[in-house]
Amino acid sequence: MPDQSLTVLEKVVALAKRRGLIYQGSEIYGGLAGTWDYGPLGVALKNNLKNLWWRHFVTGREDMYGLDAAIIMNPKTWEASGHAAGFADPLTVDGKTEKFNTMFKTQVGATGDEALTSYLRPETAQGMFVNFKNVVDSFHPKLPFGLGQIGKAFRNEIAPRDFVFRSREFEQLEVEYFVRPTDWEKQFEEWRQVMWQWIELIGLPKDLVHELEVPETDRAHYSKRTIDFEFDYPFGRKELYGLAYRGDYDLAQHQAASKVDLTYFDEETKERFLPHVIEPSLGLDRTILALLTSAYTEDDPPAGGGDEVRVYLKLKPEVAPITVAVFPLLKNKPDLVAKAREIFSFLKVPTLRSGPRLYVGTISFDDNGNIGKRYRRQDEIGTPYCVTIDFQTLEDGTVTLRHRDTGEQERLAVSALIDRLS
Ligand code: GAP
Repeated sequence: MPDQSLTVLEKVVALAKRRGLIYQGSEIYGGLAGTWDYGPLGVALKNNLKNLWWRHFVTGREDMYGLDAAIIMNPKTWEASGHAAGFADPLTVDGKTEKFNTMFKTQVGATGDEALTSYLRPETAQGMFVNFKNVVDSFHPKLPFGLGQIGKAFRNEIAPRDFVFRSREFEQLEVEYFVRPTDWEKQFEEWRQVMWQWIELIGLPKDLVHELEVPETDRAHYSKRTIDFEFDYPFGRKELYGLAYRGDYDLAQHQAASKVDLTYFDEETKERFLPHVIEPSLGLDRTILALLTSAYTEDDPPAGGGDEVRVYLKLKPEVAPITVAVFPLLKNKPDLVAKAREIFSFLKVPTLRSGPRLYVGTISFDDNGNIGKRYRRQDEIGTPYCVTIDFQTLEDGTVTLRHRDTGEQERLAVSALIDRLS
């Protein structure tokens, strides 16, 4: 029974720790503010989202190129991008406000004249701008085209808070999409739709997501237009994602600072110019928090029977850390356990072979405790399907398939399972 004095966020934080989704960073040393460690199930959730993003934003399109740039970049990058001078939050000390730059400083190389002070990147975006010319030279892409990257970003936030919402180390999924200057409004609209498709794809409730047209005074230094996608978190409506029109700000700055020609020759118009940029920028940790807080459900009275409140995560099968759990009804019956193991392997092998068509991505085997408890354990981590092997299975080769949200059970042949689950 969940402690009803807790808020939804507190319940989710407790569940995430107990079930191995997200732990406090460096916990045995008392933690480190603004850092979080993803446990085995958290990694599975993250990987599912990263794979879906990569397919939806990069490999599923002909106009996108993937990238994995270094986290530590030449510090000139951050001078040119404007971050060295402008990436700062107001900090009040002894009644006086100073600007505090939130980039993490680090030293590259040994001490002495050779040492170079650089920064951990505060956004993955700059890795894509500095590689713009490389990709153009290697692939000769036609405009419009884009670069996509998933990676860590670091910000020395003055006040990290709200679980993984505002942390000092987090993961971004970003696209820098290069367009003809006259084309930006059309492309901005198209990416806006791609972002809504993504929200639907991963199962975020659309009515909890709201667009905010960011006024000029609140926009980042590089942006000529920004729409924030805000989410109704338990602690209020806050930024989930951003969609920005960066103009030619970044390429122009890097061209001026590096003295390398970053212009693009457009074969179609025979013109040479700096492309403009549309940037859909997504935070992975904020996605996970939005998913966990909106998926957290208390079922009272529980569907499928029983009188204890049932807690489950209403996650889409494509996203859930575990897709199918396989149980022998009883642990002490070798015949049942052997049959369950056989079915477990049967489900697992085709998964590895048939790729993205089938979402039996992560399968778990559990023979611990009574069957009701096992269902509860899987419900709590959002496993959409449980397959139980009982005495009837030994006779006629059928199993019970239980559905998480309704608690409903159906009887079907093992051979029909793959089709039913895909
Ligand atoms: N390249 C553009 C850029 O970095 P941003 O709005 O500063 O824009 C993009 O960050 C996204 O990164 C945000 O919408 C959010 O999802 C995520 N994000 C930013 N700061 C974060 C933090 N301290 N903790 C967790 N996620 C963060």
